[in-house]
Amino acid sequence: ALSRRTLLKTSAVAGLYGIGLGASKLLHAAQPDPLSIEAKFTSAMIDGAHETKKMATYAIAGSKGPMPPAIRMKRDTPFAAKLINHLDDATTIHWHGLRIPNKMDGVPFLTQPYVYQGDSFDYAFTPPDAGTFWYHPHCNTMDQISTGMTGMLIVEDPNDPVFDAEIDLNLRDFRLGSDGQFIALFKPRDAARAGTYGTVRTANWQLEPRYDAPSGGLVRIRMADTDVTRIYNMRLEGAEAVIIALDGQPLPDIRKLDMAVVAPGQRIDLILKMPEGEGQEARLIDVRPSTPKVIASFRATGPSLKRSLADVAPLAPNPFQMPDLKNAERIPLVLSATAEDAARPSICGSLGYSFWAINKKPWTGDNPDPTAPLAEMKLGKSYIIELENSTPQAHPIHLHGMNFKAIASSSRTVDPLISDTYLVLPDEKVQLALVADNPGDWLIHCHIIEHQKTGMTAYVRVS
Ligand code: C2O
Ligand code: CU
Repeated sequence: ALSRRTLLKTSAVAGLYGIGLGASKLLHAAQPDPLSIEAKFTSAMIDGAHETKKMATYAIAGSKGPMPPAIRMKRDTPFAAKLINHLDDATTIHWHGLRIPNKMDGVPFLTQPYVYQGDSFDYAFTPPDAGTFWYHPHCNTMDQISTGMTGMLIVEDPNDPVFDAEIDLNLRDFRLGSDGQFIALFKPRDAARAGTYGTVRTANWQLEPRYDAPSGGLVRIRMADTDVTRIYNMRLEGAEAVIIALDGQPLPDIRKLDMAVVAPGQRIDLILKMPEGEGQEARLIDVRPSTPKVIASFRATGPSLKRSLADVAPLAPNPFQMPDLKNAERIPLVLSATAEDAARPSICGSLGYSFWAINKKPWTGDNPDPTAPLAEMKLGKSYIIELENSTPQAHPIHLHGMNFKAIASSSRTVDPLISDTYLVLPDEKVQLALVADNPGDWLIHCHIIEHQKTGMTAYVRVS
């Protein structure tokens, strides 16, 4: 049997799809050579029958195929990247979930100039938290995210436990027609409702991929919902798994996976106990809305390693300053539908419609002259964002640059977890507490991209 010591042994194992920075480079240079990230068009076999042209991707030295590779960095270790734009529109990179300096956050007009075709931008920061995150553009997001520009981002910690295998799953759909080419990326009537769903559902740009892993072994599965619309209801068939982290943040207590809801922008880290018998399969299934859909499957290979989920220990927590609830100031934030027009043309793309608003103001987040901040926060002070959803849709609300803790909900027992993206249910009121510990202008928006781009965007100022 596997002892806890073996599980906790440190190692620099790279994931199946990882692009690692050379360890020696990290040890010897305070300023690492920048990773070159090229935003560009490519083509891909997504539906298995047609070649999809004009996929967009991030190409990084050593990466293969149309899917942007997982970028691996190390906690508390400087990271640098040069974004080079070969697309025909402006772009930026946002490092979703990383608490980094404001000018590295990748939001055009608010934190940096957009990067036009042929231009480049240098990112450099030191990630303070370990876990599963992701990266994507924050300019022309509907076009660029929908056509493929979402990659996983893994921040390693030297004390990360080592499992028998690690598999990253980048979950998302593509809207392809019967000829395998992109069709209209959204429909206005759906943008005014739950969002427009893709027609081809993938994990890692593949239809129901199957991965081999050692029989009876423990596999760490890092998943990110990088889709523009789809909320997953995740179940596992044929094996058992525990959840060790949500939205990149370790759970204080390990939970058995029953059904996990994962919304656009959110992540989940599972430890899967592979079936004992060679050839047996475990299947990850999305049971939403009603027809179960296999996302990926895992086939047991070789003699059983006979591991036990009981040996899985909680991960070390990331630093989080507990808000002072007694003295916290309250910030009301009401999500609503709107008829007011915010659909101004923008170099970072406009969908041409206004459907949604925060505190009655529709803003798309990509105009050079942003609306006033939703709140002016004092650096170091505690706040409670009172988020109220007055719409009949669920909205995954993402805050840039800082983490919050959910402390109360009007409609369910609150799960007091630290996160950067909270899925607020229809008519739910939730309290999100935080310490304003990162100076700058930080976006807060729905991660259903059609909602974000038709008004459900605002920002807070910390100074
Ligand atoms: Cu994942 Cu504002 O972004
Ligand atoms: Cu929304």
